[in-house]
Amino acid sequence: MKELLRPHLLSLTPYTPILPFEALSEQLGIPADEIIKLDANENPYGTLPAVADALKNLPYVHIYPDPESRFLRRALADYHQIPVENILAGAGADELIDLLLRFFINPGDTILNCPPTFGMYAFDTAINGGQVINVPRLDDFSVDADALLEAVAVHQPKLLFLATPNNPDGGLLRSEIIDALLEQNLLLVLDEAYMEFAPPGASRMKEVAKRENLIVLRTFSKWAGLAGLRVGYGVFPAWLMPYLWTAKQPYNVSVAASEAALAALKNADQLEKIGQKIIAERKRLYAALQKIDYLEPYPSQSNFILCKVIGRDAAKLKENLAKQGILIRYFNKPGLDDHIRISVGMPEQVDVVVRALTKI
Ligand SMILES: Cc1ncc(COP(=O)(O)O)c(C=O)c1O
Repeated sequence: MKELLRPHLLSLTPYTPILPFEALSEQLGIPADEIIKLDANENPYGTLPAVADALKNLPYVHIYPDPESRFLRRALADYHQIPVENILAGAGADELIDLLLRFFINPGDTILNCPPTFGMYAFDTAINGGQVINVPRLDDFSVDADALLEAVAVHQPKLLFLATPNNPDGGLLRSEIIDALLEQNLLLVLDEAYMEFAPPGASRMKEVAKRENLIVLRTFSKWAGLAGLRVGYGVFPAWLMPYLWTAKQPYNVSVAASEAALAALKNADQLEKIGQKIIAERKRLYAALQKIDYLEPYPSQSNFILCKVIGRDAAKLKENLAKQGILIRYFNKPGLDDHIRISVGMPEQVDVVVRALTKI
């Protein structure tokens, strides 16, 4: 029966998600609430009490959600001071990445990718029958601007996804590179999933409504602590919006996700304070990691820190910590296989991970 599948799907490399929390807890024999989970850049403070209340009191779960996510989009427009007409909500930024690729890719079209970076750009390109051409980042994980502009000229991609701050290193994309890319004949998609942890002024979201070729993606997964509910949003140029409305899945954002996101935005001041705590803790974690002789941390503007592991096996390091109930991320990929990434936790979690790393 396999031959019935679309041929490009037969050769896909499967996405390797991290093992679910509960499965890991079972495997390690450690209760879930004792595990220190610093492997997926989630918010260690969890959700706000107002979000928990909103979820307890959901009134209309038996009714389909609003296909236009009107209340959520209005709240986002108010919060960011941008036109509501340019905003589309999605089941996480992930859904919007896939949606964009479905809109633009014809089988065989080329998409440029700047690895190491978030895996979904290449994954969704492949799912949608596109061809990925890599323009690897430099040794410090910054984008190789010359190589990228040259590749744009040669391959003329329709879309280009760049994360800023980038995952896994946490570095921001330089604004000169963004400006140079906006001069090209392509749609630039800035994935700002972690922008709330970066210095003010780094986002390009406010420019979207004034341009034709810029898209900015955001998520409630990280800053707002709603990763499990799947809700994100994008800001898109006006000309693209009618097509997005026509072809998106009608009920893509669930009632629960929408209400939770609304409650989070109503209490954005509390989220901003939590964001500040995470930023302060990132500085403390960075300083502590610098003191560990076999680790070289990279400066990060996000809620995680990538470290090069010197003279030790990074995979074993991750395993060793996992046995102690501390989860960090190891990437079994060329260029990253001697690195680990640690999400910024609460102060007591940071103390535990630093102590464990120091002892090893
Ligand atoms: C750069 C980047 N973009 C998007 C996402 C996914 O966001 P969401 O949970 O909203 O799908 C992630 C998640 O790890 C990410 O690292």
